[in-house]
Amino acid sequence: MTRQTRADGSLRHLLTLEGLSRRELEALLDRAQAFVRPLGARPPSTGLLAGLTVANLFTEPSTRTRVSFELAAKRLGADVVNLEMQLSSRIKGESMLDTVFTLESLHVDVFVIRDAEAGVPALVAASVAPHVSVLSAGEGSVSHPTQGLLDALTIRQRKGRIKGLAVAIVGDIRHSRVARSAYHALATLGVAELRVVAPPALLPGDDEFRGCARYTDLEAGLRDADVVMMLRIQRERMLDEAQLDPDAYFRAFGLTSERLRLAKPDAIVMHPQPMNRGVEIASEVADGPQSAIRDQVRNGVAVRMAVLATVARAGNGATA
Ligand code: NCD
Repeated sequence: MTRQTRADGSLRHLLTLEGLSRRELEALLDRAQAFVRPLGARPPSTGLLAGLTVANLFTEPSTRTRVSFELAAKRLGADVVNLEMQLSSRIKGESMLDTVFTLESLHVDVFVIRDAEAGVPALVAASVAPHVSVLSAGEGSVSHPTQGLLDALTIRQRKGRIKGLAVAIVGDIRHSRVARSAYHALATLGVAELRVVAPPALLPGDDEFRGCARYTDLEAGLRDADVVMMLRIQRERMLDEAQLDPDAYFRAFGLTSERLRLAKPDAIVMHPQPMNRGVEIASEVADGPQSAIRDQVRNGVAVRMAVLATVARAGNGATA
């Protein structure tokens, strides 16, 4: 695995949450919390990254993640370039590197990379000059570290803590980078009980999600949960193993108000979006009083500001 830290222990890249200590995760969450503003208030704006350039390189479609990385960089005073490389066949790592080297010559200091292929962010991180940082914005089904952080921040805000909670992650766990990063964050931050709840074909492999209870029955998995994290059915990552009929899936695994009553009365509902309403989640729940989905989106910008400020601080000549 590519090292994420510099020799002095400071964070240089963010490719995964696996291996980050509780102290490091909490420092990122605290820093992000300081960037959160209520809706209607002006968002924070600082010159912390003034003079630096951030490039968003996305070879998979994205709305929220791309826009929130862009806003985060701009609100820190950086210059931003966005490259959405929508190629018909998946871009190979080598062509990605050519693009990266070109941008490096144009003084790009931070690369934000989303790619469907596992290993691309690490390949770029291993190839760039020492002053350059790489942030993963979603790597295949492997990891999505800023999503894991914004999920942890949302839980901390809404529940006041993470330690001691019961969290049910529900749906297409097998293909979900969101679930993998949430697992790494929440396990390190001391969640009491982490459940993975999915039909058998969508449960993760036995060597993953260690320490999590596995459920193939939604109602059993929801019982007394403090947090219910729903996942999108990832049709684009599904092979024949799980040809799902959306109506049948909703009947067996869709989160309705009635089913949500099995969780704690003050349980919150999360979803990374985009949502398939009526497939994994009913609209009444997605838009209901227990939904924290819009908080997740708002927290995404704050988390990405915190990560950018953290990686750029020590190495790139920016002063904090
Ligand atoms: C997720 C992703 O792309 O991994 N979306 C996001 O970043 N908020 C989840 C998904 O696509 O299901």
